[in-house]
Amino acid sequence: MRGIVLAGGTGSRLRPITQAVSKQLMPVFDKPMIYYPLSTLVMAGVSEIMVITAPEDQPQFRRLLGDGKQWGLSLTYGIQHRPEGIAQAFIIAREFLAGGPAALVLGDNILHGVGLGRQLVRQTRPVGAEIFGYPVADPSSYGVVEFDGSGRVLSIEEKPTRPRSRYVVPGLYFYASDVVDIADQLKPSDRGELEISAVNQEYLRRGTLSLTLLDRGTAWLDTGTFTGLVQAGEYVRVIEERQGLKIGCVEEAAWRAGLLDDDQLRALAEPLIRSGYGDYLLRLLEWKSNASPH
Ligand code: G1P
Repeated sequence: MRGIVLAGGTGSRLRPITQAVSKQLMPVFDKPMIYYPLSTLVMAGVSEIMVITAPEDQPQFRRLLGDGKQWGLSLTYGIQHRPEGIAQAFIIAREFLAGGPAALVLGDNILHGVGLGRQLVRQTRPVGAEIFGYPVADPSSYGVVEFDGSGRVLSIEEKPTRPRSRYVVPGLYFYASDVVDIADQLKPSDRGELEISAVNQEYLRRGTLSLTLLDRGTAWLDTGTFTGLVQAGEYVRVIEERQGLKIGCVEEAAWRAGLLDDDQLRALAEPLIRSGYGDYLLRLLEWKSNASPH
């Protein structure tokens, strides 16, 4: 399965801080925002990834992430010329996906939870669509999923004024190879976008949409507003300082997935020592020799 991180958009809700820099490069405490969704894909066992950005932002993403080899990943880049919807990612990535299944994560979605990586690995051979449900206090600004007592999906609605459920669909999706053709057939919505909810509605119609509810112990953080961005950074800081474990550390995720060996991790740590980030990578190696459970 290949993966896509969609980091397009104009960041209009975070102006002026996104005037000159892409939203997905903003810091969330101690690392750029895109590290979090990238780690999510790596934890799910995906290592061939296309990063889709607006044209003017691509050089900075390349400077940060390169070709991914330093992390045992293969990163390629795609361009979304205009923010015409999440589902457009599959059209942009058609050749990259090479007729195989696809994982898509939104570049501003931060997910954190115990056992989440193991849970995600199970989704990488989807029959149709594998989506998630997560309860939020205000569902109306998301894709809302309604389901019955046996977890069967009844409806998916994008940003409904009257949500039929408290559960919304986070920006992490796993699809079989037919997703590219489904995306191709879509018509733009009223807001002029190829909606990911429309893709999911099509899988629902075909009877191949499956929903997994994320445990309430999972955190799914919003980074779309000034307050959300600060809160996400604060969440990461509190957990990291308390546990001494990092969230969204791509190097760690790659090392745990067996994409990097100990020597490679040690080499990555060296230029990062002064910020403390490198010390963390070295500590992982120490803990390993002391049989840490994490
Ligand atoms: C998008 C999707 C929505 C999903 C959300 C997750 O919303 O359209 O279905 O729940 O991402 O972050 P948007 O970012 O376009 O507001």
